[in-house]
Amino acid sequence: MGYRVGVQGWGTGLGYRVGVQGWGTGLGYGSGSMLNRAKIESWATGLGHYTGGECIMMETLRFKLNDKPTELTVDGDRSLLWVLRTDLGLTGTKFGCGEAVCGVCTVLVDKEPVRSCQFSVKNVNGKEVITIEGLAKNGELHPLQKAFVSHDALQCGFCTPGMIMNAYGLLLKNPEPTQQEIIESMDDNLCRCGSYGRIIEAIQTAAQEMKGGR
Ligand code: FES
Ligand code: FES
Repeated sequence: MGYRVGVQGWGTGLGYRVGVQGWGTGLGYGSGSMLNRAKIESWATGLGHYTGGECIMMETLRFKLNDKPTELTVDGDRSLLWVLRTDLGLTGTKFGCGEAVCGVCTVLVDKEPVRSCQFSVKNVNGKEVITIEGLAKNGELHPLQKAFVSHDALQCGFCTPGMIMNAYGLLLKNPEPTQQEIIESMDDNLCRCGSYGRIIEAIQTAAQEMKGGR
């Protein structure tokens, strides 16, 4: 079994929280009874989707993905994360914990941030999905992306797509958030590199540039 270390750095700019569960067990996470579909998809097979011993219900889904109408026939119980990454080639959305804890897999569904690792793809039917690939327009980075660059709001960058998408969801709802509102809204997105202070500054800068716009 693994362990979890919890030190959260939002507001301090210093701390970090890491989640390590079951590394070295062979399958990646905990005991066999803890395995779920998302974990099997990501760790046991690396790429594909798990079919052993389960009745797969293929569904045809129609939704808007980054402004493009999209139609897909898939097992509707698969996670949105792995469908985006493996079926649709959108690898900007990252896999971290697989348990809706770290936030690196955040995308917007109907403008609401969701943790795509634990979000069944069937739930996007008839909706609008925006991933990090959908933010830049006409070759120009989105204000949030520009602000993350100009504020150096990343180190390894692994958390960055999820951070930006969660921040985008916040600014769509609340175009002028206070620092405290930013911290509260971003609190469950984890950065192992501890870039929290600069991320807050980047979100404040982007909010000013967006001024309630996109
Ligand atoms: S991968 Fe950590 S919340 Fe989804
Ligand atoms: S995890 Fe490395 S920049 Fe956030």
